[in-house]
Amino acid sequence: MNRRILDHPILGKAKEDNYVSFTFNHQSYKGLKNEPLAAALLANGVRTLRYHEESGSCRGIYCNIGHCFECRVTVNGKQAERACLTPLQDGMVIESNEKLPTPVKDWSAEHE
Ligand code: FES
Repeated sequence: MNRRILDHPILGKAKEDNYVSFTFNHQSYKGLKNEPLAAALLANGVRTLRYHEESGSCRGIYCNIGHCFECRVTVNGKQAERACLTPLQDGMVIESNEKLPTPVKDWSAEHE
């Protein structure tokens, strides 16, 4: 599935030689070199980047400017990289952060 605009009225046509390969959760994709990981994944139809620490609900792009950290993923083994700010490089191994430690304390366990 390619949701990318291949022929933009102002930016022109996407160049075929700018494409690089990467994986997300062990599945192979192609994206434009140096575009944000979030854009590359969205162009490939991937909207869920991780799952909420407590509720397990889907998380993806929210602010898209590096403020909210909702888009954090693991890149080449490094956790909590913001997909909206990280430029795509050839051969990147990206994984969704299934469950990261949370700063939110579980108060319910103390009051049982
Ligand atoms: S979408 Fe908010 S930090 Fe990436």
